[in-house]
Amino acid sequence: PPAPPATLVIFGALGDLTRRLLVPAIVNLVRSGLVGDDFKIIGVSHHDVTDDALREQLDDFIGKADGEGGAHGDKSGAGDPDWLKLRDRVTYLQGDFEDAATYAALKDRIDGNAAFYLATAPGFFGPVIDSLGQAGLLTQTDDAFRRVVIEKPFGHDLPSAQALDERILKHLDETQIYRIDHFLGKETVQNILVTRFANTMVEAVWNNHHIDHVQITAAETVTVGTRGKFYDATGAMRDMVPNHLFQLLAMVGMEPPNDFGSEAIRNEKAKVIAAIRAPKPEEVADVAVRGRYTAGRAGDADVADYRSEPEVAPDSRTETYVALKLMVDSWRWAGVPFYLRTGKGLAARDTEIVVQFKPVPYAQFAGVDHNRLPPNRMVIQIQPDEGLSIEILAKKPGPVIEPAPVSLDFAYADHFKLGHTTGYETLLYDMLTGDQTLFQRADQIESGWEAVQPILDAWAADGEPEPYPAGSDGPAAAADLLTRDGRAWHTIGRPA
Ligand code: BG6
Repeated sequence: PPAPPATLVIFGALGDLTRRLLVPAIVNLVRSGLVGDDFKIIGVSHHDVTDDALREQLDDFIGKADGEGGAHGDKSGAGDPDWLKLRDRVTYLQGDFEDAATYAALKDRIDGNAAFYLATAPGFFGPVIDSLGQAGLLTQTDDAFRRVVIEKPFGHDLPSAQALDERILKHLDETQIYRIDHFLGKETVQNILVTRFANTMVEAVWNNHHIDHVQITAAETVTVGTRGKFYDATGAMRDMVPNHLFQLLAMVGMEPPNDFGSEAIRNEKAKVIAAIRAPKPEEVADVAVRGRYTAGRAGDADVADYRSEPEVAPDSRTETYVALKLMVDSWRWAGVPFYLRTGKGLAARDTEIVVQFKPVPYAQFAGVDHNRLPPNRMVIQIQPDEGLSIEILAKKPGPVIEPAPVSLDFAYADHFKLGHTTGYETLLYDMLTGDQTLFQRADQIESGWEAVQPILDAWAADGEPEPYPAGSDGPAAAADLLTRDGRAWHTIGRPA
């Protein structure tokens, strides 16, 4: 059913997120009939532009997949019929985020349901919510909801996340707060729960009796690009780990919820994230690796040294790569390491989860050392080439018994049409219909920070990231993290 009529107010209307992802996602919702013609968008920012200038900025990005619009797009989306239905209902409000006049003007333009999307630098989350609250814009009635969508990173460490929660809860009830993590909008991420809980043969082996370790990878070829100002103050850990990668870890690690209601699911996820063991300060060097790309070639493009990228400090100590070994203290996962890695300027774009099973206890095949048999693995391919593979062993045809690895492959493209989506459609629709399942609760975020805080502290105190050439697999120390344990990372990118 279509979402209720509402006004979506976007703070940061001229930013990258708005044009690349948010507005194209709304247009896709219009296309599928999930957003009606009583839906409006008000873009807010301090720039001096007109309604039409804003609409023209958006034209190029309509109907394209994530990131394909603008300069790289082949044609403008200006003629898209579903965008034309919405285009006149997109208006602009020029105003400073910290000026009461902005909110007074907003108040005149809103009535009924409204959602405020904070697509701004993280420093504005607190001030904008204070101002919305002081202007009375967050007061709900039975006929009009008021909701706030907050982008990541939520805080920059544990104390600041706690302070931000405390600050916004003065104006909002937890049910009005939608802390967004766009990884949860990905079909392949939501599918992890179906893979686990709709298949008895999967869940039966999903524990420390059968699983040797788990690898979670989010590798990107893209570099910091034009985001130097944000990224150099943030780094790979804060940008990706306690949010995106921990959400993937929670999907893999959570206990079955009692039902698929938002609180049941969020309770189980919160429990796993709270069970991630924070390393002791003296353990950090053994379990955490940071890297920084230097000049090279990644994703068919020449890459400059990170420190010479626009708006990056020439003596920056910010990491563009992180690898971690984490333990989850729970009955199900005791003794099973979770290895996580993410970085920019790497050999390939590849977001995947590899669940590696234990070796067989004994192999009766003559001349075969059972410990040397290639392991069974489940590879959940989040993107690109969405799918899931199970690596098993088969007898290589011939007179002697020789087990050989083969792969059972499910590709989304063979069975379903994934469509042309940005990943934000589901999340925006859920928010408009009041479903918080795929949004992060305060306790999840705070536990996430808690687990990485000793690493952030150790890194801030001393040392610097290990350089790795752009286009490589990352710093050598990341490989050592697994070699030391007698294991190896799954290759980034699929073999051609
Ligand atoms: C964002 C990060 O949240 O996620 C980016 O800020 C990163 O640095 C992006 O590139 C990755 O998302 P996706 O969907 O492209 O894998």
